Amino acid sequence: MKVGVIGCGNISPVYLRVAQEFPEIEVFAVADAVSERAQECARRFNVPHVLGVEELLNHPEIEIVLNLTPPKAHAPLNKAALQAGKHVYCEKPFGVAREEAREVLEIAAQRGLYIGCAPDTVLGAGIQTCLKLIREGAIGAPVGAGAFMLCPGHERWHPNPEFFYQQGGGPMLDMGPYYITTLITLLGVARRVAGISRITHPTRMITSEPKRGQIISVETPTHITGAIEFASGAIATVIMSFDVEAHRLPCIEIYGTEGTLGVPDPNGFGGPVLLRRANDAEWREVELTHPYANQYRGLGLAEMIRAIQQGRPNRLNGHLAYHALDIMLAFNDSSASGRHIELESTCTPPEPMPVEGL
Ligand SMILES: NC(=O)c1ccc[n+]([C@@H]2O[C@H](COP(=O)([O-])OP(=O)(O)OC[C@H]3O[C@@H](n4cnc5c(N)ncnc54)[C@H](O)[C@@H]3O)[C@@H](O)[C@H]2O)c1
Repeated sequence: MKVGVIGCGNISPVYLRVAQEFPEIEVFAVADAVSERAQECARRFNVPHVLGVEELLNHPEIEIVLNLTPPKAHAPLNKAALQAGKHVYCEKPFGVAREEAREVLEIAAQRGLYIGCAPDTVLGAGIQTCLKLIREGAIGAPVGAGAFMLCPGHERWHPNPEFFYQQGGGPMLDMGPYYITTLITLLGVARRVAGISRITHPTRMITSEPKRGQIISVETPTHITGAIEFASGAIATVIMSFDVEAHRLPCIEIYGTEGTLGVPDPNGFGGPVLLRRANDAEWREVELTHPYANQYRGLGLAEMIRAIQQGRPNRLNGHLAYHALDIMLAFNDSSASGRHIELESTCTPPEPMPVEGL
């Protein structure tokens, strides 16, 4: 299907490269608020058309808009694309607030259009192997989980790091989607959230190029902790932080009645998947059962195109993305109110991928 890409920044080369591996994706045009970026991207990846954003949204040949802009632009552009009759696949998070994300879902439903949202790492070899193991009972019934992403912040490497400290950024909305979407995939839907969060540094200095020395003011919590209770009864402990220099926590572990699963980094597609069952003396690395172990950002878009062609829901649909967003926002809501947040959203967790791939 013909795809128009909006947003030609840091992550776009990965998508454009991976798109060339999937015959179902035809990148027809690119657009960016900074037109030189779109020109450069088109040159590098042989994209036939460079358009203005409005022009791309209204182009009659484009069937899907791939939205790779920063978080605050996600919902407004998704709405505009749907209103122009295009399906949408968007980078994470699905929005920066519930209301705008709900509007996106409503417009898509009214118009009968598809919405897909990153992260698609949950469709990769590592997480899919974990899902298979859990479904086969390798760790018994899940009791709990740990999900930890702690780092010193993205202003050390990203060329435009301001958005990570604005509404829609912070470690929860930036990195949380990988972790929370993985937990939903492996443990099912969530019921309630309790959280405590803080802003540790009210300002931060950019140390990456080209903006080295510029000061960012911090609008969003940068150290967030809490717990998620799933409908199954399993409880996940979560820390997401941009305020930590070093730590020794795993990315994700799932604790079952008969063993523990070491889930690989959910910001990647591969392993290692580690398993230790009751009475095992050591951890065992499990061979990956599914394809897509390398950098495959764009797999979710290819999967959505297959779903459109087959007339079935896509695995990374808007309801999954909205449930993940609802969970992530609930951490700060809980911190602000001093109460557990009962979640109103739900979704169907993604079906396992076929072992032979798409
Ligand atoms: N950089 C990464 O490693 C990475 C990894 C995974 C996901 N992501 C996600 O991808 C998205 C983009 O991140 P990035 O790192 O590429 O950011 P970026 O700032 O490098 O690039 C974003 C691009 O979007 C353009 N843009 C902004 N608003 C626009 C608008 N309204 N219309 C048209 N163009 C607009 C900007 O000019 C810029 O070129 C974010 O949601 C981020 O969370 C980034």
